[in-house]
Amino acid sequence: MIHLLFGPPGAGKGTQSDLLKVRLGAVHLSTGDLFRAAIKGGTALGKEAKSYMDAGKLVPDSVTIGLVREKLQGNTVQMVILDGFPRNVSQAEALDQMLIEIGVSLGKAVFLDVPKNVLLERLSGRRVCAGCGAVYHAKASPPKVPNVCDKCGGKVDQRIDDREEAVATRLEVYESSTSPLRDFYLKREVLERVDGLGTSEEVFRRIEKVF
Ligand code: AP5
Repeated sequence: MIHLLFGPPGAGKGTQSDLLKVRLGAVHLSTGDLFRAAIKGGTALGKEAKSYMDAGKLVPDSVTIGLVREKLQGNTVQMVILDGFPRNVSQAEALDQMLIEIGVSLGKAVFLDVPKNVLLERLSGRRVCAGCGAVYHAKASPPKVPNVCDKCGGKVDQRIDDREEAVATRLEVYESSTSPLRDFYLKREVLERVDGLGTSEEVFRRIEKVF
């Protein structure tokens, strides 16, 4: 079964997906992570995605939908958490079609609800390891040695799209393109709003209850 985790930038989708992966054995499929890996690997996909991502804009559907289709096709595990896809109604319609093709049903569409002032605080403070992708927060959960990853010793830095200008664009894109998915999945009777405030543990327990 495929569950969706969606919400604004900084809502905690990646953080919660990691917990779901470790504790419930889910497979975590994040289009943002796939694009970042492609950029790091210098692939054609990465070259195409980079300028959109750095500016905080969506990568074109023609690229993104094909990528997700390819990843879902080979997947035979019990539980998949899709994080960051779909991100607009066209992608949601394409996902419906993919699920029919691969004979998998849609579980819950979990909307992580976090107010804008908290999102801005989380995004401005987020720091990420360039080596292993571990996520920190400059104030709330910094690495033990400044700018050095606790897990792999890699360099910990700010994501280019967490800079102020790109964050503003990402929030606008979220409102215009992604937010309408709440109505889309409400009509399908699979929408679950989860309060994204509180500690990661508290949020995780709320999501676990939904599943
Ligand atoms: P993507 O990587 O998906 O970014 P996003 O949706 O903007 O989400 P974020 O990764 O910024 O935030 P998050 O919700 O995962 O929060 P996190 O857990 O890290 O996409 C990036 C780009 O790729 C897009 O802009 C677009 O260009 C492209 N893209 C991706 N998918 C696409 C698609 N389908 N179509 C087209 N383009 C696509 O947490 C944030 C911070 O808060 C961290 O520091 C964390 O430690 C902290 N934190 C988390 N939870 C808590 C908590 N409970 N309390 C306190 N701090 C917390």
